[in-house]
Amino acid sequence: MDHICRHLQKKRWTKLSAVCNKKSVLVMGGGTGRWCVGDGGGQWVEVVVEDGAGGGGGVVDDDGGGGQWVVAALVLIIIIFIFVNRFLNKKYSTNPHSLPPGPTPLPFIGCTIQMLLNKPTFRWIHKLMNEFDTPILRIQLGSSTNIIVVSSPDLACEFLKKQDEIFLSRPDFLSANLTSGGYLTAIFSPFGEQWRKMRRIITRELLSQSIHKSLQPKRDEEADHLLRYICNQIDKQDAIVDGGLVNVRVLSQHFCGNIMRNIVFGKRLFGRGMEDGRPGEEETEYVAAIFTILKYVYAFCITDYFPWLREKSDFDGHEKKIRIAIESVRKYQDPLVDERIRMWNDGARNECCDWLDVLIKHQNPKLMPEEIKAQLIELMIAAIDNPSNAVEWTIGEMINEPMILKRAVEELDHVVGRQRLVEEQDIPKLNYLKACIKEAFRLHPISPFIPPHVSTKDTTVAGYFIPKGSHVILSRYGLGRNPNVWANPLRFDPDRHLCGEGKQVLLSDNSMRLISFSTGKRGCPGIVLGTTITTMMLARMVQGFTWEAPCNERFIELVENQDDICLAKPLVAIAKPRLPRNMYPLQVDEKKYGV
Ligand code: HEM
Repeated sequence: MDHICRHLQKKRWTKLSAVCNKKSVLVMGGGTGRWCVGDGGGQWVEVVVEDGAGGGGGVVDDDGGGGQWVVAALVLIIIIFIFVNRFLNKKYSTNPHSLPPGPTPLPFIGCTIQMLLNKPTFRWIHKLMNEFDTPILRIQLGSSTNIIVVSSPDLACEFLKKQDEIFLSRPDFLSANLTSGGYLTAIFSPFGEQWRKMRRIITRELLSQSIHKSLQPKRDEEADHLLRYICNQIDKQDAIVDGGLVNVRVLSQHFCGNIMRNIVFGKRLFGRGMEDGRPGEEETEYVAAIFTILKYVYAFCITDYFPWLREKSDFDGHEKKIRIAIESVRKYQDPLVDERIRMWNDGARNECCDWLDVLIKHQNPKLMPEEIKAQLIELMIAAIDNPSNAVEWTIGEMINEPMILKRAVEELDHVVGRQRLVEEQDIPKLNYLKACIKEAFRLHPISPFIPPHVSTKDTTVAGYFIPKGSHVILSRYGLGRNPNVWANPLRFDPDRHLCGEGKQVLLSDNSMRLISFSTGKRGCPGIVLGTTITTMMLARMVQGFTWEAPCNERFIELVENQDDICLAKPLVAIAKPRLPRNMYPLQVDEKKYGV
């Protein structure tokens, strides 16, 4: 400390960038040069002193008097910082392995200020990975939360395959807590009995082969409706000869929403829908709310890194938005759950026809209504977001690369022909089409990261120390665009996923070169259903219609949002029927639409 104090002549903060065990030290002084100071861990480190005026550190106004008191106060603060730092980092400094590289955190707040100044956070994180030229980055948020970001397949496998058992938990975040009704569910719950129980029920019961098969008529119904809906959109527009503008985002999101409602509640719509097959007010509100939850869950909310703030402030406004969205979803779902429970209790229902029945009738243990309600929100999110986003991007990419669209059409003509509609049984043979979807998962995932995996004990990965409680986030964005893995990574090129004659393309990727369904004990159990929904949606769209950019545009502007990585403008394209008219499912009787 003497070394530092000797240079405390000026009443001005100067930031010292210190590099030793990746810790930062704030000292005060006026000169520039190199100094040796204690690092708080009992070691001496060399520090570079920069002139602080206008620098990154806090600036204290020169008051011209009482300077000694200011100096004394600042010295005191420094001493406290160093002691607290020593306390917090005690166990790190005794570990022979260093933490992964990353920006130097400040005491108490870590890199929170940098994060707030560099929105959106996921772009800042990927920029840091480039600057540090590393596939593994550590960022400290709050006083002690280590965020470990990973963008190489080898490291991803190390975390989620070799050391899977250690990274099984999830963080305690307000967004996750609210959505899961206080951690009653499978996706957002930390490691423990409740997670195990709910995951087991989903995997063994809801997603079992027999239930999947028994629910096929509901999925078929929606696949037919997709054609009917597009035909309706075309028919009501006279402007374009033989074709019409279709909003692919509305189409794809509601296709998934309708299927899931049908599978879960036994009905496609909450309300009556619109005459032309479009979603009604109820479904529009519901799907929008599902996407709002998705946007704010695990969204680097400040109070998650300063839990003591939770009760006092909704610092970045996330809490209000997510609460409203959850309320919107529950407004539609919860009464249906209550009514169904009543029906079983009254004997008005005695056959399991959908997921809700299966959950209500589950025994040993019997599920509480609150568990069912919370789990259903999560399953809706899980099944709507990825497929709809992948199909929107794929159609956009296909329009801009007509050769890709042509090859997909040729495959459908070859495998299915034009005399019947593509069915689920064709999926194993539609390898080029699946390669297109896989390419969309690689290049345009719905979210930059997968949900955080939290370590349940200290460990070492690739020579780096990963402390217990670290939040490991695998970057779907970084892995999918990693130039060491993918040649010409920004090019949409489905051929890279074709595995040769006779070999099936799978949408999952166990080698973690890209993340579609992830892997390990926390990997997605919905691979079959997810693959079916996504492939059938794209297959029906490509078999049934040709797709072009709107008349006044030469191509589709395939640009990401700044705040997330969805397509910036919802995809609107011209669809023209390409099959004989009698191949399209008949229009629904108007009195019955929505039923
Ligand atoms: C194309 C569609 C889908 C994709 C790309 C996808 C992707 C993912 C990903 C990346 C995860 C996180 C895994 C991790 O943390 O390592 C996940 C988790 C999960 N998914 Fe999916 N998913 C899809 C469809 C579905 C469907 C249809 C369901 C079931 C209804 C489902 C249920 C789940 C569940 C329950 C988890 C949480 C697992 C856990 O934390 O233990 N997913 N999914």
